[in-house]
Amino acid sequence: MKREIVTTKDGSKTIHLPDWQENYHSHHGAVQEALHVFIQSGLVRQALRNSSLSILEVGFGTGLNAILTYVHALKNRLHIRYEGVEAYPLGLDEINELAYADLKEVAQYSEVYHLLHSSVWEKQVSITPEFELLKRKVMLAEYTPEAGVFDLVYFDAFGPRVQPELWEVSIFEMIYNAMRPGAIFVTYCAKGQVRRDLITVGFHVEKIPGPPGKREMLRATK
Ligand SMILES: C[S@@+](CC[C@H](N)C(=O)[O-])C[C@H]1O[C@@H](n2cnc3c(N)ncnc32)[C@H](O)[C@@H]1O
Repeated sequence: MKREIVTTKDGSKTIHLPDWQENYHSHHGAVQEALHVFIQSGLVRQALRNSSLSILEVGFGTGLNAILTYVHALKNRLHIRYEGVEAYPLGLDEINELAYADLKEVAQYSEVYHLLHSSVWEKQVSITPEFELLKRKVMLAEYTPEAGVFDLVYFDAFGPRVQPELWEVSIFEMIYNAMRPGAIFVTYCAKGQVRRDLITVGFHVEKIPGPPGKREMLRATK
């Protein structure tokens, strides 16, 4: 599928899929959305409970959430085990064109950002002493995580309009089972059907303020 690099309103870039009229991040701001949805609404909250966290990201993509997690972990003395599921890894040319290594939030850690992408798939590697990474190249429907291991889930799939099969109850059940009690699941999506399906699976679901340009997002607790 064709992928184009575009610039979002906060100046950071993202990828646009013309065939689906879908973006990897909000056109209001890629970094702004990642910081609000995943770091502030997810990581900051779980770090209050534990300084050692196991995180699952659905849709590793550009690695933006992973590098922002690393930077937050470094500054707050957290230890992170990060597992990213990705069916269609990006090419090096796309990663370079996105220029996330030059973002003010990342620039000091550009080497780490490149390591996230150059590290092997299917094997857990120590990127730094505080950050372990396991990248899994697999379709989400075929992913079989261990039970009860994750403290935090970044659910960053394309929206239900274009990939409804990634937002089904069976997927949410698989993820719920992979989470520890008290773990949280965050997503930019605030659709009523998604909220109801998360409740069906057993989550306690909150609608919380979304990033600029989006009224709400969802946070679900096991
Ligand atoms: C909305 S993008 C977000 C990516 C990433 N979190 C980021 O910040 O760049 C969704 C990601 O899910 C991946 N994806 C699409 N279908 C998938 C599937 N069936 N299984 C696993 N990953 C998938 C895409 O390739 C893309 O990287």
